[in-house]
Amino acid sequence: MAVPLSAQTDEALPHLENRDGRHALIVDGRPFTILGGQVNNSSNYAAALPQVWPVLDRIHANTVAVPIAWEQIEPEEGRFDFSFLQTLLEEARTHDKRIVLLWFATWKNTSPGYTPAWVKLDNARFPRMKTRDGGDNYALSPMFETTREADKRAFVRLMTYLRDHDPQNTVIMVQPENEVGSYRNPRDFGARAQALFEGAVPAELVTGLGKVRGTWAEVFGDRADRAFNTWYTARYIGDIAAAGKAVKPLPMYVNAALSDPFNPPDPMGVASGGPQQDVLDIWKIAAPAIDFAAPDIYDRSSRNVVAYLDAYARPDNALFIPEIGNAREYARYFYTAMGKGAIGFTPFGMDATGYSNFPLGAKALDEQTLYAFARKYAAIEALGGAWARLAFTRPTWGVAKPDDGSAQSKTFGKWQVTASYGEWQFGLKEWTWLKAEPPAWADEPVGGALVVQLSQDEFLVTGDHVRITFDRAESGPENGMVVRVEEGRFDAAGDWVMDRVWNGDQTDYGLNFTDRPVWLKVTMGAWK
Ligand code: DGJ
Repeated sequence: MAVPLSAQTDEALPHLENRDGRHALIVDGRPFTILGGQVNNSSNYAAALPQVWPVLDRIHANTVAVPIAWEQIEPEEGRFDFSFLQTLLEEARTHDKRIVLLWFATWKNTSPGYTPAWVKLDNARFPRMKTRDGGDNYALSPMFETTREADKRAFVRLMTYLRDHDPQNTVIMVQPENEVGSYRNPRDFGARAQALFEGAVPAELVTGLGKVRGTWAEVFGDRADRAFNTWYTARYIGDIAAAGKAVKPLPMYVNAALSDPFNPPDPMGVASGGPQQDVLDIWKIAAPAIDFAAPDIYDRSSRNVVAYLDAYARPDNALFIPEIGNAREYARYFYTAMGKGAIGFTPFGMDATGYSNFPLGAKALDEQTLYAFARKYAAIEALGGAWARLAFTRPTWGVAKPDDGSAQSKTFGKWQVTASYGEWQFGLKEWTWLKAEPPAWADEPVGGALVVQLSQDEFLVTGDHVRITFDRAESGPENGMVVRVEEGRFDAAGDWVMDRVWNGDQTDYGLNFTDRPVWLKVTMGAWK
């Protein structure tokens, strides 16, 4: 007898939990860290999948992010084809991967490219946005019910297919649309939009933002066009997500094409309407069915990357990295993201179809590049689920080597942890004879560490191409010291098992991590 879906409680489905501002993605009843890889855009066909799995296996990924396109499932209006999805579900299960499904529909990088031909060619029924001077913009308008209802019908069919064919929840999360908004046109200037723009801002939005009622221009000033498009785009997507969740309530998120983290975006240059960091509050009010918004990171500046992560890691917004460049230097930000409580990390372009999106990502997925990601995923994998559990409940810190190579420190109560870079495992880089011969990685954009505080005096730490030192904090005990360093792992029951003690050369110059996935448990204390 088939088990009716109602027998599967929402608790048993993948879902997000929030405790004291920390977030966890719960899968199969336990916190789960997405060690992901997103395939290239056109790898959403069965023919491409054989080039996907070996790359994901190589990097120790547990999850694949794959597009499913509206044009693919509803090539003719009302005729649905889920054959690719079925193949994907089956192959993912065989390869022991979970799936994040990306719904490429009304907007994909803002464009209608992934809508079926019957949508993209019918501008009367599915209108494009109007520009300020009355022309047609390339992007579909969020102002029309015809478009939203057609997209929603297809999305609901997709979620229905998952409800009926994925009782084991191989698909753990869904991203409705992709990098939404419009470029070079901050909002729809057509008659319908214009009338609404000249009217009052919806009460829900003004109240939610704590502002005073008025027209869009009165409430938002020179940000009004973008605020307007953000509201209507988020309403549109929130409505589609809610309809999908009514069928199968999986976590749903939206991804942002980012703008400069330190300066207000140019409304003509930014993907106006998308969930960039400065309009997250509008998205939260407009689209409660969207669990969180997430940053697509293709910016190599370490200062900017940290700013993006900080902007999206909020008590009301789980941090997830849905896309990040797959070049080697991006891998180190895995540590930073995890330290800030990220539920997952998904570098983009992780398949062997031979496509490279350089300069955004890697020139080629060579072994050194894959290893940079694999090394980190393997460390988390080795903890057998303990990382996700600990990160949900204990203080964490993650760092990546900054562009200037400087050291970073963090205080945990009585203790201070410092990450420094460009050291050999023995000695100090200031030593004249080591100065002349720095390690090969000293000038490379590699290095980082991840620390979790297990109890007041105990820490778990991993990293690569980094030196970690533990000292007393300013307010810590005068005779504070490292008492013991154990290399080990967690067993199936979740208990720490020591394999050996690090001492002597292995601790005299800090804890030096190079290229091996090692976990150390550090115990601090003070002599009296
Ligand atoms: C961000 C988009 O979301 C991806 O689908 C892809 O187009 C990358 N940009 C560029 O490769």
